[in-house]
Amino acid sequence: MQAPHLMTTYKPPTVRFVEGHGCRLVDDAGRSYLDFLSGIAVTSLGHAHPAVAAAVAAQAARLVHVSNLFGNELAEPVAEHLDRLVGDGEPAGGKVFFANSGAEANECAIKLARRFGGRGRHEVVSAYGSFHGRTLATLHATGQPSKHEPFAPLPEGFRHVAYGDLAALRAAADPTRVAAVLLEPIEGESGVVVPPPGYLEAVRQLCDERGILLVLDEVQTGLARTGRWFAFHHDGVRPDVVTMAKALGNGMPIGACWARADVADAFVPGDHGSTFGGQPLALSAVRATIDTMEQIDAPRRARERGAQLEVGLAAIDGVRSVRGRGLLLAAVLDDGVDAGALVDDLLVHGLVANAPSAGVVRLAPPLVVTGQECDEALGLISAALARSLAARDRGAARPGAGVEGATPRGVVAQGATAEGATQDATTKGATT
Ligand SMILES: Cc1ncc(COP(=O)(O)O)c(C=O)c1O
Repeated sequence: MQAPHLMTTYKPPTVRFVEGHGCRLVDDAGRSYLDFLSGIAVTSLGHAHPAVAAAVAAQAARLVHVSNLFGNELAEPVAEHLDRLVGDGEPAGGKVFFANSGAEANECAIKLARRFGGRGRHEVVSAYGSFHGRTLATLHATGQPSKHEPFAPLPEGFRHVAYGDLAALRAAADPTRVAAVLLEPIEGESGVVVPPPGYLEAVRQLCDERGILLVLDEVQTGLARTGRWFAFHHDGVRPDVVTMAKALGNGMPIGACWARADVADAFVPGDHGSTFGGQPLALSAVRATIDTMEQIDAPRRARERGAQLEVGLAAIDGVRSVRGRGLLLAAVLDDGVDAGALVDDLLVHGLVANAPSAGVVRLAPPLVVTGQECDEALGLISAALARSLAARDRGAARPGAGVEGATPRGVVAQGATAEGATQDATTKGATT
């Protein structure tokens, strides 16, 4: 698929989607796909959700943008609602800054931590394997040194420790220099890595002892994805700062940084800002998204369908283990099975998933996915893995399209209204 006018930041896509409804996408050749990636944990209510579509259409016809020089009628109520979700149903006593993406939400958190910490106390300790964004600061916070090298020098003040290693964090968290510890409750981009039980509570305690802020990056895990409103609710901790984005507008670009009020108050007018952040159009999508998520009890759905998928995946030949929570799951494949080739094969057969790290397939379907759609996906994965195992055992490089036994597309698409994957759905190790 040629796109000579686009920068080469993504692997060339093999599929171009033009339409989506619920858990289904349709490509430009009219083929239907089951979307088990949701644009990487973004379209949690499925594609073209009627409440979100109606809200955005109505807002587009009323007022799209005014700039933050002026107020708008949505910002305060949406911020108040998010504060209640951070508090798991109770006001959490925080304040919100609206940005346009996950990276920007994290930039806000990093600047806020520096402002709160004061001059000289500006370091951020994060974890190896983490992903926090592509801006220069969030790239440095991202614990993947290979991604740093081409862009050096990066802003200073970032250190990394092994994820889940409390002793390493204890050694790195010098309270005279460190403003914040920044962690994902589950590391999504490095393959849905769950920390050891008790880790987040222990980190909270360490931060309390040393007067260091605990910043949790819930960009991927937040908004019901893991079966609670935020993944840290599983652990019973109270972070000082929480960042979110992806699912917040069900696909409308928006991010948010929530902070405990006394921390948030470190910012004074002029410290931070955004032209588009918190504009009425994006907020109309957020309001419809979080209202709908509450109405349908999205966390419960994530727990129920997640349990079904977890059990189903574990029973498939070629899956060594399953990890994750709710509907953010990874199937860890048997040795020698190429996860990148497997997701390419799945796409050819009508299922969208991705391979965030070697030997790992990530599933993050919309939270409205049905039991039947989960069964369909499990069937497709089982068939693809059988082809992969056969290819491995034959010593073949990859199973790929058109191999013996490949399911005809018409069969996959039966009963589908629309389905599909994003360009980076099959880009191994990449994220937007
Ligand atoms: C945990 C986490 N933080 C931050 C980001 C960056 O978000 P964005 O791509 O919206 O800037 C991502 C994106 O994958 C993410 O998974």
